[in-house]
Amino acid sequence: MERYIIKGGTPLMGEVEISGAKNAALGILAAAIMTDETVTIENLPDVKDINVLIDAIEGIGATVNRVNRHCVKINGSTITSVHADNEYIKKIRASYYLLGALLGKFNKAEVTLPGGCNIGSRPIDQHIKGFTMLGADVKIEYGMIIAEAEKLHGAHIFFDMVSVGATINVMLAASLAEGNTIIENAAKEPHIVDVANMLNSMGANIKGAGTDVIRIRGVKKLHGTEYSVIPDQIEAGTFMFAAAATRGDILVKNVIPKHLEALTAKLYEVGCSVEEYDDSVRVIGNPVQKCSQVKTLPYPGFPTDMQPQITVVFALAQGTSTVTESIFENRFKYVDELTKMGAKIRVKSDVAVIEGVTGLTGANVNALDLRAGAALVLAGLCAEGYTTIEDIHYIQRGYENFDEKLRKLGAMIQIVYDDREEQKFKLQVV
Ligand code: EPZ
Repeated sequence: MERYIIKGGTPLMGEVEISGAKNAALGILAAAIMTDETVTIENLPDVKDINVLIDAIEGIGATVNRVNRHCVKINGSTITSVHADNEYIKKIRASYYLLGALLGKFNKAEVTLPGGCNIGSRPIDQHIKGFTMLGADVKIEYGMIIAEAEKLHGAHIFFDMVSVGATINVMLAASLAEGNTIIENAAKEPHIVDVANMLNSMGANIKGAGTDVIRIRGVKKLHGTEYSVIPDQIEAGTFMFAAAATRGDILVKNVIPKHLEALTAKLYEVGCSVEEYDDSVRVIGNPVQKCSQVKTLPYPGFPTDMQPQITVVFALAQGTSTVTESIFENRFKYVDELTKMGAKIRVKSDVAVIEGVTGLTGANVNALDLRAGAALVLAGLCAEGYTTIEDIHYIQRGYENFDEKLRKLGAMIQIVYDDREEQKFKLQVV
């Protein structure tokens, strides 16, 4: 099985280029099928979740032309089926965006229940509520979500909690509904704004994305466009925290610094230096870093997708830090893996109490989900000795060429397929 082998202890130094935002691109790809004209999407990250969604789009009959690793042309005029179901699409969360897109375009969608990282119960009641208010009849049968409407109409929707997925899904469907839709308590993440901008570039009429209230005036049809996905805020954050954790010095390029403010603020608090430029951020770790507290919150709060990575930074800081997870109830499972590496962390319900240690030691650990996996890589890069990380397919869902980008920063990390290759790596890096 593919795994990472890491020899830790080298501060990461240099420059890294950030790829397009996975979670924006997923919504954008779904939006692309809503017109019969060709849509060109650029700056797509070449990661598994994106490629699975592109395959699913092809699977329902859309014409897909992969121009290169980061650019695709999609034409939705050839769609033959509103039924999206295969063994791969089941595994990704964003399969549910096909619901909003197909429902908006064809008034009918049948999509397999979404999978995704196992970070707690991940209900879709708010998506269903939104579609129902737009006039659809939604039922779950044989593992599929089936949504159907005679005609979609605008509605005033108040979400019970802030949900990225439900906000995007309702934006998609409501763009082609008759009349006006208002989404209250909408999510405000940068990817919401990016999907709205993309839909607007296709002729939709969406205002207020990035605030709590999004207003959508339904249009009769959408047209083709060319659109470039924003940089990935979480990939950028992961490299920023890699600089902090390894006490390195990294210039993180191709980012929107405004999207990273919650992260930059924490890096200052622990004692790192952060320099912001127009489209890059430089983070310089400090030999002695301080403890702090963090609570995950919807944007502009501290993102839950950076929670495991900051835990690694705190694990190597001076003093006792706390991390409170308020979005997903099961996002601390990776703590047992960090403990194997010498971290001192206790979890009680939704709070992790982290007593900083002066060093970690290498161990064999498992990537339990995408961001937890990335955090274990950061831990491995700091640890003395060798760390092997199994189940790296989780990491590959969301980080493009993670090992390659890290190697360019001086990390000793390699993908290996068996014990013999692992031994070879160890002989090479001593
Ligand atoms: C998106 O998931 C991201 N995934 C996640 O990224 C991210 O962790 C999450 O937003 C929060 O920022 C994609 O964009 C594909 P939510 P999503 O709906 O949309 C509850 C990563 O590592 N909820 O905002 O599924 C839910 O249980 C990942 O890239 C309901 O109760 O998250 C959670 O507690 C993993 N009912 C909270 O809301 C619903 O109908 C926020 O979830 C929907 C959500």
